[in-house]
Amino acid sequence: MKNNASKNQKMNVKLKNFTEFKILKNKNINLLNFNNNDKNTYKNIRPIPFGKPAILGRELQFISEVLESKQLSGDGPFSKRCEAWLQKELGVQHTFLTHSGTAALEMAAMLSKVGPGDEVIVPSFTFSSTATAFVLRGATPVFVDIRSDTLNIDEKKLENAITPRTRVVVPVHYAGHACEMDTILQLANAHDLLVIEDAAQAHQSFYKNRPLGTIGHMGCFSFHETKNIISGEGGALSINDPQFAERAAIIREKGTDRSRFFRGEIDKYTWQDIGSSYCPGEVISAFLMAQFEYADQVTKRRRELYELYQMGLMGLDKKGHITISKAEGFTVNGHMFWLLVEAEPVRNSLIAHLNNNAIKSVFHYVPLHSSPAGRHYGRTSEETLPVTDSVSTRLLRLPLYFGLENDEVERIVDSIYRFFE
Ligand SMILES: Cc1ncc(COP(=O)(O)O)c(C=O)c1O
Repeated sequence: MKNNASKNQKMNVKLKNFTEFKILKNKNINLLNFNNNDKNTYKNIRPIPFGKPAILGRELQFISEVLESKQLSGDGPFSKRCEAWLQKELGVQHTFLTHSGTAALEMAAMLSKVGPGDEVIVPSFTFSSTATAFVLRGATPVFVDIRSDTLNIDEKKLENAITPRTRVVVPVHYAGHACEMDTILQLANAHDLLVIEDAAQAHQSFYKNRPLGTIGHMGCFSFHETKNIISGEGGALSINDPQFAERAAIIREKGTDRSRFFRGEIDKYTWQDIGSSYCPGEVISAFLMAQFEYADQVTKRRRELYELYQMGLMGLDKKGHITISKAEGFTVNGHMFWLLVEAEPVRNSLIAHLNNNAIKSVFHYVPLHSSPAGRHYGRTSEETLPVTDSVSTRLLRLPLYFGLENDEVERIVDSIYRFFE
């Protein structure tokens, strides 16, 4: 017992710097985080948060208009304006504003008619809502590994994950980076599967000039405070296949045909189907409409910041210290800038180092397949998901928001260089 304790103590080494990490790693020693000697370096410097929601223009004016109109519930004039704006922007015939991205996914799950015994293919490296929407219907999420470049579902591993029970595949466009949609659609067509895009992070990103969220049968967007365009909580479902539109309206309105009643097509509305309450109120929609007016500027600026990070950090990527986000072959919306380091102790130390320099960086998902609910409700498509496991311990997200200044990006980049060199 005593011997073991002292053995463990010997093996757990607190690191002084990145060079020491490299040397000790080769000796296979159990590495803890680095000592951070440069605490308080930026004591008097403006802190840089990880994210900061932007109020862009006429949010208050539009909200005042709602208050004056006394029409506060859902599906009022601002909701209609938001939906019309999205339809035009996305080039689709049907969009349904929801009170969250999660709600859009839940609507899509209901529309897909999956139930107990059915399987839905999702990446493990995603937010819980991607899976819970389908678990609520009784279906089983089947977790597939991700690609090491885009961190999106690995389309080469899809076919193996398909069984006679598979009904739906959910490509999640992580960080607004497009999944390999051609291959996914081909496979889905061959096996008669629905494709529901989780485009929560992908508004104004493109795959081969097509907006993400409009390529599969349905697409789910989020306007949560952490996204590019926001309404606090908020979301939308876009429908690419008209067969789903009528039922979507019913599901969104507590299972009733109230929207047909409002259009004057019937003289009373009744309970028709399963559904829930998914409309946002007018105050939220008014806020969202004001944000939509600036959507192009927001995306343009976020893309600039994304490119600044790329240019700034390419040197460290080339030297092999880090792997940075690259948007190769698609157009990204600048939602997030991530980087991968060599191992978890380096990641944790880099977060601490940036923190000491008044810069907030954060890691991301605990893989769903290893989470308590994921293990209970789902299964993996193969024995292990090595890329997911590795990425989740090595990934770091840098500050990226509309109000971030160029010199702040330079300060972040500089701080990362000082960590490695
Ligand atoms: C990939 C993904 N899916 C779904 C959601 C859920 O969106 P919301 O927070 O609007 O419910 C999020 C939100 O962070 C997300 O990132």
